[in-house]
Amino acid sequence: MSCLNGTDCHETAKRRTALAVLALMMAIFLLLSAWSFLPSRGQAEPEEIQYGGAGAVEGKRVFQAYNCMGCHTIVGNGAYFGPDLTRIYADAGASWLAAFLPSAGGWPTAAAVRVQLQNAAAKKDAGTADLQAYLQRYPGAAERLEKRGGQHSLMPNLPLSAREITALIAFLKYASAMNTEGWPPKPREDRRIPAQFLQKASAPAPASQIMAAAVPSAAPAPAAQAQDIVALGRKLVTELGCVACHATDQKRTVGPGWGGLAGHEVELADGTTVTADEAYLVRSIRQPDDQIVKGYPPHVMPSYDALIDEADMKAIVAYLRSL
Ligand code: HEC
Ligand code: HEC
Repeated sequence: MSCLNGTDCHETAKRRTALAVLALMMAIFLLLSAWSFLPSRGQAEPEEIQYGGAGAVEGKRVFQAYNCMGCHTIVGNGAYFGPDLTRIYADAGASWLAAFLPSAGGWPTAAAVRVQLQNAAAKKDAGTADLQAYLQRYPGAAERLEKRGGQHSLMPNLPLSAREITALIAFLKYASAMNTEGWPPKPREDRRIPAQFLQKASAPAPASQIMAAAVPSAAPAPAAQAQDIVALGRKLVTELGCVACHATDQKRTVGPGWGGLAGHEVELADGTTVTADEAYLVRSIRQPDDQIVKGYPPHVMPSYDALIDEADMKAIVAYLRSL
């Protein structure tokens, strides 16, 4: 065949070149596709990421079971009601998450994070049991304590078990370890929320004050009147983050309501019944897992043994009795 003016236009050769180029492109495409499935591109492997004995894969199942994606995005997927969770572990750390997730309806206080840091897995993960060192390593936790600590949050309380929380942290740790090429972009706006949008917002205390509040306060003077003790107890349960999980009336939240508890019978998970006397209340706070209230999960309430001295405990018990 010839071109228009009768000269040979090498059509066969050109067709061969075109097919050869096409075949080359096809080969490159197939190779790159195969390469993208190779596990060894420096990406984090979900099977290798653990927290407290739970794996990221187990955590992903929990994430799906609770439909966290119905409100949150993670690595670009999900809904926009809550904040993106891709970097939350890297920003705020495991202990902050462990303090937040069991009672997500309230933002954790410094005391609540300090309690979590006593947990062996949390200590190992952060490389420290010291709150100040932790906050330095995870500035996102310091920022959240300062701006929101102790306030109501817009996330509902979810009935997560301790194991599910551990697994979720493993999954969020994996998300933070992924190379997402800078996704999500950093929001430019400050996270502070205007006061009129906060429900029942207590004025945000400066960080220094929050830190001071976390340190168990000195014993009250022995002559302190009963009323002062009750007031001190009320202050302590707020500072220690108890009220994130307990209502002061009989309402069930994460834990049982405290209203009318003292002096009354409590049914335990093992089928026995005890009277909520002082010894029972103290034990419920120091060793919460010794006696589990019927209908509530174990391992959710952290032990406050190391954080509450005798005098503070007396005040807390006096306060519980006053309800
Ligand atoms: C019904 C919607 C909803 C569901 C379901 C939900 N969340 Fe949230 N979550 C929120 C909202 C809203 C906030 C922000 C609260 C605020 O700003 O007061 C939030 C905040 C958070 C935060 C803190 C984020 C930050 O940047 O400080 C974490 C962590 C979190 N959620 C994890 C989870 C996990 C894990 C699940 C699933 C087990 C889950 N959420 C399910 C609505 C939800
Ligand atoms: C993370 C949530 C959480 C926090 C924080 C928490 N608790 Fe609890 N608490 C629970 C749960 C869940 C139970 C029921 C299971 C059990 O018995 O351990 C419980 C049980 C109790 C009981 C026994 C209640 C009953 O009806 O017999 C007392 C008393 C108590 N908590 C006091 C406190 C005090 C005081 C603090 C703070 C110093 C505190 N809790 C902090 C979740 C929490």
